[in-house]
Amino acid sequence: MRSLKTPERAGFAILCRFLMRALILTGGLGTRLRPLTLTLPKPILPVVNRPFLEHQLLDLRRQGVREVLLATGYKPAAFARAFGNGARLGLKLRYAHETRPLGTGGAVRQALTFFKGTTLVLNGDVLQRLDLASFRRAHASLRAEVSIALTRVADPTQFGLVETDRKGLVKRFLEKPSVEELTCDTINAGAYLFEPSALDLIPPGVLYSLERGLFPELLKRGRRMAGWVSHGYWLDIGTHDKYLQAHVDGLGGAWPLPLGGLRRRGPFLLDRGAKLSPRAVHDGRGQVLLGRGAAVAAGARFSGAGCLGAGVRVAEGAVLNDCVVLDAARIGAEARL
Ligand code: GTP
Repeated sequence: MRSLKTPERAGFAILCRFLMRALILTGGLGTRLRPLTLTLPKPILPVVNRPFLEHQLLDLRRQGVREVLLATGYKPAAFARAFGNGARLGLKLRYAHETRPLGTGGAVRQALTFFKGTTLVLNGDVLQRLDLASFRRAHASLRAEVSIALTRVADPTQFGLVETDRKGLVKRFLEKPSVEELTCDTINAGAYLFEPSALDLIPPGVLYSLERGLFPELLKRGRRMAGWVSHGYWLDIGTHDKYLQAHVDGLGGAWPLPLGGLRRRGPFLLDRGAKLSPRAVHDGRGQVLLGRGAAVAAGARFSGAGCLGAGVRVAEGAVLNDCVVLDAARIGAEARL
């Protein structure tokens, strides 16, 4: 019999440790992003011309996640159209649909059978670079039932804060504190590691929140919850300003863009069939992406980041400053955006 300590066996053990399942919460109505979300659900809105969630899925794949369950509610067909069974992204993707909204906690409870060992749960509207291996190590070393990824913010009074003790165990939750009440600057980043035991407290089949229901309840009962500070890029894309910010940051280099198949011409990135007049100009800050078949005429002027969707036309002399232009739009001559 072969020893358990053969290199193959050790490699297999390491692989198993990082092969994690992820549940992504994608069922929200995205009301703050209306009217964009009247046509597409928030996680499918294009961000640098790909469905937003694709950026997160590619990052999970890179970090060893292979199986993903999407908890859908609002406009579920859009997810199936964008990702199908996940094969295009190298993932095994499944869907759990809610015929009525169950909230973040209810959605997790409905997916109970998906939880085999430590499982990652993510909000589907956050763009973040999460170091999964470190997150998982912190979770295991504190023997937590749930670990909450945290991110630091400049103005903590606008958020729900999560305060931890010196070891990293959650001490309390503070909802939008005044400046005098501030004791920390760490907020819930919308990413969690769950042990299946933590799901017992969620009532099945009803609207229930992780943030306002399960987490305070676990704390009250003295169950072990950890907070782990993520230092990677983090942005909740839930408002129009933040949606634009995701583009400005990506095209400015703050998070890695998937550049496969794009041609570079100075600050311009051209997708298949895109046409750029040699007499279009850019001020040198950030980059401009031209989607498939997009066309930019002579004398068009760009400053900062720009993202033109498939088939967009920009006419002579138009001026675009930090703009996202969705598929097939026409920008007229001398227009200023
Ligand atoms: P707003 O209406 O603009 O607040 O957006 P939202 O509906 O997405 O709500 P919020 O930003 O609070 O949701 C955080 C995450 O949880 C998002 O990824 C949502 O898709 C998801 N989510 C919210 N409610 C539900 C739900 O009832 N079921 C599921 N499956 N996911 C949900």
